[in-house]
Amino acid sequence: MLLAIGRRAIPSLKGRGTANFLGTDLRLGTLSRMPIPLRSNVLRMTPYTPGKPIDEVKRELGLSEVVKLASNENPLGPSPLAIQAVQEAAPQMHLYPDASGYSVKEKIATKFGVERNNVLLGNGSDELIHLLGLVLLEPGTNMVVGNPTFVRYDAAAHLADIELRKVPLTETWHHDLDAMAAACDSQTRLVFVANPHNPTGTVREKADFEAFLAKLPSTAVCVIDEAYVEYASDLDLPDSVGYVREGRPVVALRTFSKAYGLAGIRVGYGIAPAEIVDAIDRAREPFDVNSLAQIAAIAALDDEKHLAESRKVNAEGMARIAALATELGLTTVPSRANFICIHVKRPGQEVFDALLKRGVIVRSGGPLGMTDYVRVSIGTPDEVSAFLTAFREVMA
Ligand SMILES: Cc1ncc(COP(=O)(O)O)c(C=O)c1O
Repeated sequence: MLLAIGRRAIPSLKGRGTANFLGTDLRLGTLSRMPIPLRSNVLRMTPYTPGKPIDEVKRELGLSEVVKLASNENPLGPSPLAIQAVQEAAPQMHLYPDASGYSVKEKIATKFGVERNNVLLGNGSDELIHLLGLVLLEPGTNMVVGNPTFVRYDAAAHLADIELRKVPLTETWHHDLDAMAAACDSQTRLVFVANPHNPTGTVREKADFEAFLAKLPSTAVCVIDEAYVEYASDLDLPDSVGYVREGRPVVALRTFSKAYGLAGIRVGYGIAPAEIVDAIDRAREPFDVNSLAQIAAIAALDDEKHLAESRKVNAEGMARIAALATELGLTTVPSRANFICIHVKRPGQEVFDALLKRGVIVRSGGPLGMTDYVRVSIGTPDEVSAFLTAFREVMA
């Protein structure tokens, strides 16, 4: 017998009264404590810890001014063109989005010189990482990543309950591409390389990368996660999209969350072999990228002015922070992303806590795998000034 409670229908349990999904015995009004058979691989996972929200810090510490430099967002906000497009599209919110993402895929395909069936769209690139795991990883396979690296890669492996091979970064916090290639075998299905990398901001340039790709087994799909690539476009970067055009098993993963300033509306994209796009289309939810997100992405792609300004503010803020670190006798990891890691020579958590008390939220390096570091997102000039003042006090 099926019993409907709220919106869920579950079987009632014979001899135990009527149970709802929390295990409460409704007839007796007591907890029946029936074990819930959750998957052990899921229980081994830790939930994602986002940067501390501004309002929470204000409330907890009684502060009126708080600056958040913790989540690598664009301090300039979204492109004005995206804001305008979303405002104009808002009255159409009662309609389902275009499930195929036709217009935004067309726009991306034209920009990158690929076919529309080479374009992935996701509810943030986080969703695409998840979906890549879903369509490529199965029992007996393995996945190779750097260590430390962006935590959502690990989640894809844990969800698939497969072996995750974590290859330490080099002493200079770069991906050790030789060691990563050596960690692959015929069962490797996914290799993630964030370039620029998170949490370090380091970059692997084209020559090294191509040598690495040549060593990978043909069964391994290499995801080049270019979430921060717009900040590093003056470098000799791997031609990620070109590799897809050449028919290599490569996915170039991108996002509108960083330089395009659309983190809150959630759009990620990727250029990938058509077979991968097709597989993901089968597995994904049909309306995963909402209509306003699609509209905002199209408008943002046209806003070269906003992109140029975002790069400029980032480069200037980064230089100011690196200069203060040098003045204080500290080193930084050379970053080409929109954040910088500072070696604070004591537990990053202590510096995080002391900055928090002064109304500046950064990331402690500990949970990111960089114990004696803090990671600071680059803010507006005023936000950077607030950080510099607080940091100088804390390190004095
Ligand atoms: C390297 C990297 N990849 C992917 C993402 C996910 O970005 P989003 O889901 O907002 O597109 C992030 C976010 O911080 C990141 O640092």
